[in-house]
Amino acid sequence: MITFNLPKGAARLIVLQRIELINPFLIKLRKFFGRYIFSNFITKYFLNSNLIAKKYHDVMLKEFSTIEKFIKIEDKSFLSIGGGMGGLELIINQTFKNNDYYFIERNYVSEKVKYGWGGMINEEGYNNLDLQKTFLKINEMNESQIKIFDYDNDNLPEKKFDVIISLLSLDYHYDFNIYVEYLKKVSKINTKIIFDTIRAEYFKKIFKNVEIIRSDEDTVHKSKRIICSQFLS
Ligand SMILES: C[S@@+](CC[C@H](N)C(=O)[O-])C[C@H]1O[C@@H](n2cnc3c(N)ncnc32)[C@H](O)[C@@H]1O
Repeated sequence: MITFNLPKGAARLIVLQRIELINPFLIKLRKFFGRYIFSNFITKYFLNSNLIAKKYHDVMLKEFSTIEKFIKIEDKSFLSIGGGMGGLELIINQTFKNNDYYFIERNYVSEKVKYGWGGMINEEGYNNLDLQKTFLKINEMNESQIKIFDYDNDNLPEKKFDVIISLLSLDYHYDFNIYVEYLKKVSKINTKIIFDTIRAEYFKKIFKNVEIIRSDEDTVHKSKRIICSQFLS
């Protein structure tokens, strides 16, 4: 697969989740009209879904290359926190077949999307869970592999995961502590927890094992991607 099948509605959400996917002309329109008009009207008429699909696929392939070597054939159950449409999990699914994918996401689009650090205030969402499920299914993930949970309304899955991934979400936009007790419940000693953070050193007090797997010095957040395992308490 060299691109994704991407319905227009999903493309409109993906450009909110991954703002780097839109071209400079659309970035200018967004700045000029503001995010509300941008996400409700402009993306409806000016977005080329095929182009977004290809760019999203390329970006997700690149993200996959940062974590690929840590994923083993024995890893069967994956949890994605704030995974957006789930393009990364689709790429994982192409390489490692027959795994289970659990997604915790939000089922609304904030009127104002700020992309900042909210700390313990975690109100921003930009997803639609029906569209996410459709997107996963039309890109070769079987219905039986997919379990999607609405962070605001569902009981979160209580099972032990092999791999937990949160790119540009947990501890990037909102504090890790919002999820810490939940993550302790759903982790085994060797569960791999991968996420982006601006305070990698802090996690040496939380986990026995912390490894920096990517540094992003060019972005506003100057974040690091870390892989952690074994909570210390
Ligand atoms: C910047 S996007 C990143 C999406 C995706 N991980 C990616 O790399 O393309 C952040 C995502 O986190 C989701 N989100 C915000 N708060 C959340 C929470 N408490 N639990 C799960 N997802 C959340 C948003 O809806 C949004 O899709």
